[in-house]
Amino acid sequence: MNDLHFSTRIIGADYEKPDAHGALSLPVYRNAAFEFADSESIAAAFRGETGEHTYSRISNPSVAHFERKILAASGAASVIALSSGMAAITNTFFAIAAAGNNIVASPHLFGNTFAFFNSTLAFFGVEVRWVDAADLQQIAEAVDENTCAFFVELITNPHMEIADLPAISNILKSKGVPLIVDTTLVPWCAFDARRFGVDIEVVSTTKYISGGATGTGGVIVDHGTFDWTKNRKLAAMPEPPAVSRFTAKLRGEIVRNLGGYMTPDTAWQQSLGMDTLGVRFQRMSATAHALARHFENHPKVVRMGYTALESSPYKSLSDAFFTGDPGAMFTMELASQDDCFRFMDALKLFRRATNLFDNRSLVIHPFSTIYCTFTPQMKRTAGITDNLIRFSAGLEEVEDLKRDIENALKLL
Ligand SMILES: Cc1ncc(COP(=O)(O)O)c(C=O)c1O
Repeated sequence: MNDLHFSTRIIGADYEKPDAHGALSLPVYRNAAFEFADSESIAAAFRGETGEHTYSRISNPSVAHFERKILAASGAASVIALSSGMAAITNTFFAIAAAGNNIVASPHLFGNTFAFFNSTLAFFGVEVRWVDAADLQQIAEAVDENTCAFFVELITNPHMEIADLPAISNILKSKGVPLIVDTTLVPWCAFDARRFGVDIEVVSTTKYISGGATGTGGVIVDHGTFDWTKNRKLAAMPEPPAVSRFTAKLRGEIVRNLGGYMTPDTAWQQSLGMDTLGVRFQRMSATAHALARHFENHPKVVRMGYTALESSPYKSLSDAFFTGDPGAMFTMELASQDDCFRFMDALKLFRRATNLFDNRSLVIHPFSTIYCTFTPQMKRTAGITDNLIRFSAGLEEVEDLKRDIENALKLL
């Protein structure tokens, strides 16, 4: 399978046949429970000896099919699908973080991830140590024997920064700490995480993968590269036969106890989304790149943020990491919040909505929305400014979108 190209691999990731009616695509198994012929069979399934499904909070054939498609796309060792990107992040840390541990992370994060580390985990006795992800010395000094992970976003949302993952991975390897990266902004068709030292990927499949914002979802992608005997919580586990201790802990305890497994309907929709991911990503990313380049020198624009621009300080990392254009998100800085609001209200094609990578083009002012509950100090730490607009390019024609932005800028 691995010598095939991206979309061919995903579309070829079939479900386990036979089906009673020979359905070409997997039917939705919209049931909670699975029935067994006798008591010994159900007991064996509960002991995990047969791989059979017992209850849809724990596993389900439609969700397993979606997980196989992500496996085909990522080349990972194992994949678990959850109800949102945040569920992927929270389940990951409930699996590996113990009271007394710390997480070393860049504070330039999506708002709920920042709040989960900063507020939610703090009450469980897990400390977050914010570092500048561009400062390798600071990272090396922050990591100690109680660090359970280093966490960063592949391209930070909405700052558009890239960390030097191979260099960070080298530091972490010498200290026995896993590198966990939120790769939501650039999927596997353009970024092969294993090549850059990433141990675990967490992804909001709500974004590119859902296929037009059909629902929320998330995946935890385990590349099987980290030695979990170095993790305080997982070291005491018996070595599982087929998967990593991390995946075994998630499947055997965390996911079923927290109850955030993906639903069969979502898995069906997102499996369809996976089939078209490659073409949608290419088209949306080309549009984003063209728009960012076009408006870079506009007199009303203070700065455009897109990592493939010559002006981006992250251009060389972007070129080294990504195949083709680095995604459909870009940002624009204007003179003030007032200008941002007047500009956004004048747009006719871009929809004022949160979310990313819908088929429709989207626009949002993060400072007054996603981060509105943050104190001024938290906003400063998270690097959120009031003059920045975040765009997500959709599938509309680039020339129409260009004209829409041009017309709105004329009003400033
Ligand atoms: C980079 C990133 N990670 C995680 C999330 C959370 O994903 P979800 O909304 O599916 O929980 C988001 C949501 O916008 C995001 O942009």
